[in-house]
Amino acid sequence: MTDLLHLHAERRSARPLLRGSREIQGNVLAAFNKDHQRFRFVRFTDAKPARTWLAAMLGHVDVTADIEDFNEAFSLGRAVLGEDPAGLKATWTNVSLTPEGIVALSINPDATRQDLRDHFPRTAEQAADANGDTGDSAPAHWLFGRTDQHVHAVVTVASDAEDRLDSTTRILDLLDTLLGVTVVHEERAGTRRDQRGHEHFGYKDGISQPGVRYFHDEDPDQPGHRRGHPGQVLVNPGEFVFGYPTESARPSAAAWLTDGSIQVIRRLTQDVDGWNRAVEAHAERTGTTPVTMGARLIGRHKDGRPLAAAKHDNDFDYADDPDGDTTPCAAHIRKTNPRSFTYRTPRQHRILRRGTPFGQGENGEDTRDGERGLVFVAHCTSLEDQFEFVQRAWAGNPDFAAGGRGAPTGTDPVIGGHGGATVDGARLTFARFVRTTGALYALVPSVSTLRLLAAGRELPR
Ligand code: HEM
Repeated sequence: MTDLLHLHAERRSARPLLRGSREIQGNVLAAFNKDHQRFRFVRFTDAKPARTWLAAMLGHVDVTADIEDFNEAFSLGRAVLGEDPAGLKATWTNVSLTPEGIVALSINPDATRQDLRDHFPRTAEQAADANGDTGDSAPAHWLFGRTDQHVHAVVTVASDAEDRLDSTTRILDLLDTLLGVTVVHEERAGTRRDQRGHEHFGYKDGISQPGVRYFHDEDPDQPGHRRGHPGQVLVNPGEFVFGYPTESARPSAAAWLTDGSIQVIRRLTQDVDGWNRAVEAHAERTGTTPVTMGARLIGRHKDGRPLAAAKHDNDFDYADDPDGDTTPCAAHIRKTNPRSFTYRTPRQHRILRRGTPFGQGENGEDTRDGERGLVFVAHCTSLEDQFEFVQRAWAGNPDFAAGGRGAPTGTDPVIGGHGGATVDGARLTFARFVRTTGALYALVPSVSTLRLLAAGRELPR
């Protein structure tokens, strides 16, 4: 026990710089990872009450240090007790603002608009065609993110317990009513109870994330990699939070953007039966089993094991598999992170994913007949070079070979939209089993910036 406490104290004193940030909101670098989450998409009526609303929200916002302190206490508790410390529960909140919302709150809207222009060149609605949000994924079908809905802020609440989430939501309801804030859409989401950590097609999610330099510990035996997480390459923090070194040149950001992060939210409805039927049909065509075919489309088995030979579930690349024999070049995880490159570093075009499934009953039961999907959330500092790049230049681009020898792969079978993927020599035509039913781009501002906006003070440039 004394040894454990000693180790704990030692680790606290050697923390990486960003681990203790009280400026960066909690879900950006540290990740909420709670079983129950709620996303509230809201619209302000008037700047004055909206600033009061923001001031009240500041009392709820949790920062990186809060999340990390809790997680550390939890790990310590688990080490001491030999099981999860049951009494240790938390409810966390983050607030993001759309560019329209920031301009509405700013006392200097023209300057603010100008500061945002390089980082938010267009809304998710304006980027719809490029992102493949067409047909039944077009903005006309979105529950949030259309221009006419004027979403100004998104409140994310995450908790270990549904009843705690409910009580926080009741307080938020009250604040909204008092201050003329309208809820455009509320999404209840959370871990699948029947298959924790798995998305609705049945595959384990949340395995591969970039490591973040100055936030995660570096492995002394393998510089450039995160300690204790083999295969996790450390990426400069400026790729995810404004104001820090990046991996490639970026437009400069106004001072008030420092410690803020761009948040992409996409409500992706999954047609699970359609996907399963297509997997079965393709398996039959190529003479394999549906289990194998499904794994080849994702690049991992349902339990998360990669198809690529690896000692650890994230410690691999595709350098020894240029023809996609082991992991098809069209597989979802290869199209969205080709890992080994000849012309780029594996530290570019990365995103931090914070998605969580939606579409379970009130008590967490799987509503087989109801609508199900993923609230996909990603953080980055360049839409063009990160989220949109992955979505468009890789996943949706039939000619992107994903580290293969150059033969066209077709589009990503999960998010590439209508199209075809070449898997095991066969051309598989994919209908669209993931439909976009809401999308927006927002900024998760630093706590200082939220304070300035709430106080109606000028933003430093
Ligand atoms: C309903 C839609 C989606 C489903 C069902 C899905 C499913 C999965 C699964 C099962 C994994 C493997 C687990 C892991 O490596 O962490 C994964 C990884 C990944 N997904 Fe998705 N995903 C979806 C949407 C997206 C979108 C919209 C993007 C970005 C444009 C994306 C980007 C990624 C990335 C970057 C990885 C990690 C790849 C790696 O580093 O090896 N996914 N996804």
